[in-house]
Amino acid sequence: MTAQVICVTNQKGGVGKTTTAVNLAYYLSKVKYNTLLIDFDPQGNATSGLGVEKTNKNALGVTMTDVVLGEKTLKDAIRPTKYKNFYLAGTTPELANAEVEMANMSKKFVRLRDAIKTVEKDFDYIIIDSPPSLSLLTVNGMIASNYLLIPVQTEFYALEGVAQLLESMKLVMKQANPKLRLLGVVATMYDKRTSLSSQVYDEIKRHFKQLTFKTTIPRNVRVAEAPSHGVPVGAYDKFSKGAKAYKDLTKEVIERTLK
Ligand SMILES: Nc1ncnc2c1ncn2[C@@H]1O[C@H](COP(=O)(O)OP(=O)(O)OP(=O)(O)O)[C@@H](O)[C@H]1O
Ligand SMILES: [Mg+2]
Repeated sequence: MTAQVICVTNQKGGVGKTTTAVNLAYYLSKVKYNTLLIDFDPQGNATSGLGVEKTNKNALGVTMTDVVLGEKTLKDAIRPTKYKNFYLAGTTPELANAEVEMANMSKKFVRLRDAIKTVEKDFDYIIIDSPPSLSLLTVNGMIASNYLLIPVQTEFYALEGVAQLLESMKLVMKQANPKLRLLGVVATMYDKRTSLSSQVYDEIKRHFKQLTFKTTIPRNVRVAEAPSHGVPVGAYDKFSKGAKAYKDLTKEVIERTLK
């Protein structure tokens, strides 16, 4: 067994990357799969969204910041969550400084990949949450992954930047990681009361065809509230529309990644 590594990415900010990474990881673990969520964004939203105090170094212990600097191993950074089969490697805002240091280190593009190699036999899925930029951290994420999952917010300008993201993906495939594939594009914060949401979803489908996930993630207040309670929406209100959508998305992800 070797983990399927999925990088949730889009250099556009606030499109639902972290929400998707946390909730996908939660439902994968709930199905039965041993899942590791790697918070690879210095904002640390996946870390705090799971109730881990990202500014309290003592509570946090070893983080991805230590891992990319080569001071600790990824195994050291992995902690269990409250949920069975669900593990987290958290981060701190210092990951931003570590990224600058990394730029002068050897193997700067493959630091995450090499770290993941040491634990890939221990998990079925590894989900990487990435920052809103096409930075060294994001490129590390792409090189370390089998798949990219791109959340696109159903709003005006939604697809702006996605072409550039796909260019980066192509470059990574050519230079460093030929096995990288696009797992799919998921429409997020879908508001069925507005025609804009359905127009944007149609546009996504025109562009990405069968790579567009059938599940759309609705704009749902329970989804937005859950992180402030430090839990995935499925644990906060499993009957909410948002929780149901992430459960459905997870099914599609499993279907697409079954070997
Ligand atoms: N389906 C949804 N319904 C309502 N609110 C949502 C939904 N998805 C995400 N949000 C909220 O929108 C904001 C942005 O979401 P999120 O943090 O997941 O995006 P992101 O792409 O990770 O952002 P960043 O680029 O800053 O990392 C958050 O406040 C989140 O709680
Ligand atoms: Mg985020």
